[in-house]
Amino acid sequence: MAADNQIESVLKEDRVFEPPRQFVEDAVLKPADIKALYAAAEADHEAFWADQARQYLDWHKPFTQTLDASKAPFFEWFADGQINVSYNCLDRHLADRGDKTAIIFEGDDGEVEHISYRDLYTRVCRFANALKAAGLAKGDRAVIYLPNVPEAAVAMLACARIGAIHSVVFGGFSAPSLRDRIDDAEAKMLITADGNYRGGKLIPLKETADKALAEGGATIETVVVLKRAGADIAMADGRDVWWHDFVADQPSECEPTWVEAEHPLFILYTSGSTGKPKGIQHASAGYLLGAICTCRWVFDLGDEDVFWCTADVGWITGHTYIAYGPTACGATQVMFEGVPTYPEPDRFWKMVDTHQVTIFYTAPTAIRALMKHGDEYPQRHALDSLRVLGTVGEPINPEAWMWYRELIGKSRCPIVDTWWQTETGGHMITPIASYTPTKPGSVTQALPGIDADILDESGERVTNAGAGGVLVIKKPWPYMLRTIWGDPDRYRGTYFGMYDAHTYVAGDSAQRDEDGDFRILGRIDDVVNISGHRLGTMEVESALVAHEAVAEAAVVSRPHEVKGEAIIAFVILKDGEGDDRLASDLRDWVAEQLGAIAKPEEVRFADGLPKTRSGKIMRRLLRTVARGDEITQDVSTLENPQILEQLQARGS
Ligand code: WTA
Repeated sequence: MAADNQIESVLKEDRVFEPPRQFVEDAVLKPADIKALYAAAEADHEAFWADQARQYLDWHKPFTQTLDASKAPFFEWFADGQINVSYNCLDRHLADRGDKTAIIFEGDDGEVEHISYRDLYTRVCRFANALKAAGLAKGDRAVIYLPNVPEAAVAMLACARIGAIHSVVFGGFSAPSLRDRIDDAEAKMLITADGNYRGGKLIPLKETADKALAEGGATIETVVVLKRAGADIAMADGRDVWWHDFVADQPSECEPTWVEAEHPLFILYTSGSTGKPKGIQHASAGYLLGAICTCRWVFDLGDEDVFWCTADVGWITGHTYIAYGPTACGATQVMFEGVPTYPEPDRFWKMVDTHQVTIFYTAPTAIRALMKHGDEYPQRHALDSLRVLGTVGEPINPEAWMWYRELIGKSRCPIVDTWWQTETGGHMITPIASYTPTKPGSVTQALPGIDADILDESGERVTNAGAGGVLVIKKPWPYMLRTIWGDPDRYRGTYFGMYDAHTYVAGDSAQRDEDGDFRILGRIDDVVNISGHRLGTMEVESALVAHEAVAEAAVVSRPHEVKGEAIIAFVILKDGEGDDRLASDLRDWVAEQLGAIAKPEEVRFADGLPKTRSGKIMRRLLRTVARGDEITQDVSTLENPQILEQLQARGS
């Protein structure tokens, strides 16, 4: 664990906001309901989750055993039950909500489409039938590389319908990243689009997919291509098929494939401490239960709401709070293909008014970026339909929190700052809109049924207010990850290696204040958070050393006003000194290898890296250098102290 000196937070926050009275009066779940949930979870963890699973999920075969912890840390929930996730998201709404709008889709160019639950059901069934006809069977993997359009949700739900396992790859990822994910998952099918427009710019998805498949992806038998951009693309004979042809003759009903509760629903790759992304594997029933409970509790999501999560389906937030949670709750939601600043920086606020959004969920990086554009943009719009605001993905600074509260929520809407991870599947530590007093920058309390705590390195509880430590979850929960695809040892080592097989280590450090409220301090591993997206510094280093000019590289982050963190790369060349041109080439090279989000903000050339006598790169020193801070750490173990002066002198 990197003993980061920022573990002691200097933040002091005295502002506390109770849930607004009017909000509580109008809320679906009242404070007494939430109190009862906390009490029930406290009284009997397993019985609590079993009750939720009976209340919120429709089972084909009911479960009799709730939790099996005998193979810890490989936990099983509701294991002898049978279920189908797409049935729970679609079929069960048809009788009462068939005509209700499931998705209000707004394209990059402003086109709007309303899709009813019946319509969504039909699209999913037809696509599911086509998948089966193409030979995709239960347990087979399909990689989805699509824009944030309804077809992405259709493809995900169709996989779920037939028990196939999807792995969505964010459309901003590069060809090598896509290829690595296809290869790791040994996917049989790739579902993509000819391209799409975001912020008016063409994203050439099929072209990138073709590059990925030219260098790997040998397991892919079929490529389904959605016509979205009207881009001029190549279609490979016998392999590639247009989406519209794929579904053309398929019936509009498809019997769901009932699967065991623990059957994998999806794999989603995320960054860790090594160069190789981890395929986080989620189970069917437990995951869906988490999606439903957290939508209902945290956001107070009800039948009258218009919910909008601005994430992309390529991230876990888009899985849980677009594809699965809102649909399983039978809610109406907005789905948006574009970016917040196009055509103008009031796009979000304009859409809130147009679609009368009641619950709005976005990332701090978006809030900070929009805040910089000025108050006039939100002020152009009424924003009076809003009742709950949410944030996710990274710590939110109190200034942005207050801006969100005042300019967007008009001091009327509770803000839920939700801490969770790809691995946790859904919210873990967060205010509950109708119940929890909030504070700027605090994720407040763990949800009912979630046992969060802070430990020191020896495993003792950290109880002092303001003291930092390792954030852990001490009991399994239904929507936790089940393993890392194909690598159970890495699962055990990464998440349960620090203490014991029942103590999940999140990879974040945290502290509690005098009220016992949690504040997240940041990662304790080599993961950085750029605009709310996780990236392993090792991945960036591997990409850099793959460049012919580079001998060695070390990557760290430093705080960034809008992105939260920005990447700084220290590079040792094989030959020569390096100049601005090479620095710029290397930045582009990383973007090509990994995707635009991984592009370093700065590349610094040096003759060497600060290393311990045993040859370990001293990253915390590099972090200090990257931030331009004075070095106060102990450098006595440094093998090459002169290198530090050089690194500092070359800083910009
Ligand atoms: C960070 C995103 C502070 C944290 C859902 C975590 C947060 C990582 C918050 C997971 C928050 C997420 N406050 N930090 N509200 N939410 N994080 O897997 O470091 O993309 O470990 O999941 O983001 O990122 P991931």
